[in-house]
Amino acid sequence: MTAKGAPRRLTVLNAKGGTGKTTLAVQLAAGLARRGSAVLGDLDPQGSATQWLRSAALPVHVGEDAWRAQADHVVWDCPPSVEHPAAQRALRNTDAVLVPVLPSPLDLWASWRLVEAIRAEQARRPALRAWLVINQLEPDSALSTAMHEALREFELPALRAVVRRRAIYRTAALQGVSVYDLGPRAQAAVADIEAVIEEMQP
Ligand SMILES: Nc1ncnc2c1ncn2[C@@H]1O[C@H](COP(=O)(O)OP(=O)(O)O)[C@@H](O)[C@H]1O
Ligand SMILES: [Mg+2]
Repeated sequence: MTAKGAPRRLTVLNAKGGTGKTTLAVQLAAGLARRGSAVLGDLDPQGSATQWLRSAALPVHVGEDAWRAQADHVVWDCPPSVEHPAAQRALRNTDAVLVPVLPSPLDLWASWRLVEAIRAEQARRPALRAWLVINQLEPDSALSTAMHEALREFELPALRAVVRRRAIYRTAALQGVSVYDLGPRAQAAVADIEAVIEEMQP
């Protein structure tokens, strides 16, 4: 932990693709870089984060370098599988885990086994912190009652902060930058990411 209290090693993990792992890993690393030094560890063999950040100031480490990165904050973007050796290694070595889920109960239930794996690691290492985070909730809409009920079945807390569906996240990816680089039009997106970072502090 740094003085600011945000996790030193943060793993963004889900067994499914398309839930927003890379999006959140990139944006959170960019937000953490404003609090100290931060690097992104791209553990996904597809290398989406590496491609994304080709033109951004944020350092990206791949392969063995992803494990050795020296910085106040390291964010690991994982492949879409809990069984993948890199995901397993991240889970064993991280201070905190974020599991991005789409705001649908079906999508949430697909994460059940992953949540069990995280709970098992927490049984071994009680200091490990972990949360679900809702991604791509429609702007100005609330979570459905069904989603609230499904969330209550899980032994992992969901962050109160949610990340809304915003075109600016795609724009950032296309331009190879973070929402912090996009000025006033990205203000709401920056606020989403800041709220996630703030809530992860103990
Ligand atoms: N909050 C969001 N708002 C809008 N688009 C998003 C958001 N989160 C992710 N996306 C888009 O959804 C797609 C999948 O996201 P990505 O981060 O690549 O998921 P994963 O890494 O889990 O496969 C990408 O096209 C990304 O730009
Ligand atoms: Mg990805």
